[in-house]
Amino acid sequence: MIKLQYIRVEQDKNLATVIIERPEKLNALNSQVIRELGDVFGNLREDDNVQIVILTGSGDKAFVAGADIAELSDMTPISALNVSREGQRIFAEIERFPKPVIAAVGGYALGGGCELALACHMRVASENARFGLPEVSLGIIPGYGGTMRLARLVGLGRAVELTLTGEMIDAAQAEHIGMVNAVYPQDELLDKTREFAERIIKNGPISVSMALESIYNALDLSSEDAQDFESALFGLVASTEDMKEGLTAFLDKRKPSFKGR
Ligand code: COA
Repeated sequence: MIKLQYIRVEQDKNLATVIIERPEKLNALNSQVIRELGDVFGNLREDDNVQIVILTGSGDKAFVAGADIAELSDMTPISALNVSREGQRIFAEIERFPKPVIAAVGGYALGGGCELALACHMRVASENARFGLPEVSLGIIPGYGGTMRLARLVGLGRAVELTLTGEMIDAAQAEHIGMVNAVYPQDELLDKTREFAERIIKNGPISVSMALESIYNALDLSSEDAQDFESALFGLVASTEDMKEGLTAFLDKRKPSFKGR
């Protein structure tokens, strides 16, 4: 594990909270933050005690205000290509993380910060959150998967509008277009996000993980292949103790106690 300078991880039972801590630069993603994100998610992936992850930014102004513009300012074509590829690789690892990742967005989620939130499986936001892809106003384009993920999430029309205007939208607008799952007052954001996570944690962890895998796998497959994959996972969960427990508990009219086996 590399030495973490900008990221802190808190663990409470099976819920891990990953906090990006660079408040003096509104948690902007420099190359070290990106590296640390990759490292932290790599470790959480292997940690069987972790069932769900909340990703957030420190301070009350920003989730992440984008890629670090100072670092971007001296890019060459080749270094820019590599910056984009490295960010895409790590964000894809977050997107294909086998346990749910919820972005808790308190404040600005701009550029790479918006793309990071989009790579998470769900997004909750504070009332003062602002989302946007201002890259074109800087003479660049989104480079961490944003041109792909925003359209998938909110549809082509809204994605094109947001990307080409570079304008910000507030939390209510983001909720309206399906970009965020819920909006809470700023001072309740983390508590409410934990309550949101509890709604998932109570379910069978293997089922949750496999349902997530089936949903994301389907994005890149034909409907026939996607459904073949779904059937294979449906068969695989039938091998788990959790399936027996879940179905028996229903028939016994009691709450299930899932073991993740
Ligand atoms: N990269 C590097 N530094 C950033 C940054 C970024 N993406 N976003 C903010 N910062 C830094 C500012 O330069 C400033 O640093 P300084 O105090 O050393 O000058 C500090 O964070 C605070 O930001 P500031 O602009 O003073 O805050 P604000 O409340 O006036 O404005 C924003 C907030 C988010 C509107 C403004 O910071 C902004 O537009 N940031 C860039 C957003 C962006 O274009 N992101 C996409 C990048 S690809």
